[in-house]
Parts: sequence; C-alpha cells; structure tokens
Amino acid sequence: MKKVLIIEKIHESGIELLKARKDFTYEVVEKLDINFLKKKIKDCDAITLKLSKLNKELIEAAPKLKIISRFGVGYNNVDLVSAKKKSITLAITAGVLDASVAEHVFFMMLSISRGVNKYDKFVRDGNFSERYNLDLTKELWKQKILIAGFGRVGKNLIKKCKGFEMNVFVYDPYVNEKIINKFGGKNILNFSEAIKDMDYVSLHMPFTKETENMINLKILSSMKKNSIMINTSRGEIINESDLNTALNKNMILGAGLDVFAKEPPDLNNPLLKNKKVFLSPHSATFTEQCTSRMAETTVQNIIDFFDGKLDKSMIVKL
Ligand code: GLV
Repeated sequence: MKKVLIIEKIHESGIELLKARKDFTYEVVEKLDINFLKKKIKDCDAITLKLSKLNKELIEAAPKLKIISRFGVGYNNVDLVSAKKKSITLAITAGVLDASVAEHVFFMMLSISRGVNKYDKFVRDGNFSERYNLDLTKELWKQKILIAGFGRVGKNLIKKCKGFEMNVFVYDPYVNEKIINKFGGKNILNFSEAIKDMDYVSLHMPFTKETENMINLKILSSMKKNSIMINTSRGEIINESDLNTALNKNMILGAGLDVFAKEPPDLNNPLLKNKKVFLSPHSATFTEQCTSRMAETTVQNIIDFFDGKLDKSMIVKL
C-alpha cells in the first residue's frame, strides 16, 4: 500500500483517481506548520505539493518518499539538492496549464490597455459621458510584444498573440531560433536592447539566479513610456520597488502582476496601492477546467510513477 500526502487541498477529480485504486491511501493536510508536516510526511511514499516550501528538513524527515508531484510547473519551492541526494523523482503538470496562463496574460493585457477599471466605474457611477475626458485606451492589434521565456506557456501565448495580429518577438537563450521562427516569432538575442522598442512584455521564465531582478530600474527606464509589463511567472524576476518607481515616474504605462516576490504580498507593498498595476493572487491557472486538469495530472503522475510508466515530459532532471 502506497501512502500519498496531499499537501494543500486539490480538486476532487484528482482525489477520485486515488480512491479508484486499492493500492493507494491518501491524506489531505491543510496546515503548513513544519513540525506538523514532519510528522505527516514520515511514512509517505509520495506527496503532492502546491506552492508551499519543501525544504531539506522536510525531505530528510521522509525516509520512504519516492516522488514529489508538483501541482504546477515551477519548482523553486523544492530543495532540489536534497531531493537529488535521496534520488527522489520530481514531477510537474507539464502541458495542462499553458492555455490557462496564456489566457490570463490576455486578460491582463486587455484589461490594462482597455482601461477596464476606469470604464466599469464610470458607467456604474453615472459618469457615462466622462468617457470623452478619459485617457484614450490602447489596442493590441499590430503592437509589439516580447515573450521572454519560450517554454510551453510562451508557445501557447504566441498563438494567441498571432490571433490578435500582434508583432511577436521572443527572447529565450535556451531555445533554437528555428523553433521560434516556426511559431511565427522573431528571435531576440539582446534582451536589454530589444525591450526598448516593445509595447508589451510578458515574462515566462523560471526563477533562477540568472533571472532574479532581471527587470530592474535600468531596464524599466529604457522602455517605451506607453509600454506594459505582465508577469505571470515568478515575482522575484521583477524588482518590485524598481517597478513601483518606474510606474510613478511614468517610465512605463502599467503592469499586470499575478505573482509577487513574497506571497501573499505584505499589505504595505506599495504596488498594492499603485493604480497603474492590475493585480491577481497567483491565480492564472485557477479556472474550473485547469484546476481539475492539474489535480488529475498531479495524482496521475504519482500513480504512473509507481506503475513504472511516468511520461518523461513530466519529470524534472535533477
Ligand atoms: C504555478 O505557479 C506553477 O508553478 O505552475
């Protein structure tokens, strides 16, 4: 009998897959206190993990642990060195969330460009004719977008951008130019040069030493004054204090943020008060369809692992 610890609740459709198997048991835990988790993880063969931290202490408290199944695709919350040392497999839900995140990017780009907050309020407040006094909105048609990071989400996003007839540029030093061209993107070699000419920038990179604070005041100050920055990847890629300064000094027009360096962000984080920022609570995948797909894939990855048929595309090389 294999025991699965579900750290933080997942959609019932994932749990159903475990219920259907006689050789698995499971327990769902919501409390993230380390001492509590250390006790719970002790006799587990597998865990599912959302965005809470899985540090060395927890991994070492799990002598039977064979697989960490991430509910998502990022894995900067896992201590990879400890996982590797114990030969634990790390799986992700590759390929099931791309459309949802790419749609969220459009939700943010359109909301900011089309002034959704202002327009909605004007109609509700009975200020219909004030529309003539508002700053004009922007369209996406023919605008230049830089997709920074061309993994699965970036590849899904480019298709949507093409549908809107945007001019798409792609920066990803790890992806061959031919692949970028095949998707209809123009390959960018020099990120800091190319960004100067963009109307939209959407970040799709993992959080690493290389990408930390990649978007800083120097970069922001070089961008077009009417440009818009969207981040649905990891908060640490943007220096938040620099972004706030750039917005206040009208260096760029706006930003859409689904992710933050600290989650949840502190209430005194100035970006929360900045009207030029459009916010969502790390919820780009929180559609009804995507949360159930992710729950099913997270659990299926565990089942497939023990059945000896886990797809390679789901496994992170440690
Ligand atoms: C979400 O942030 C993920 O890692 O998929």
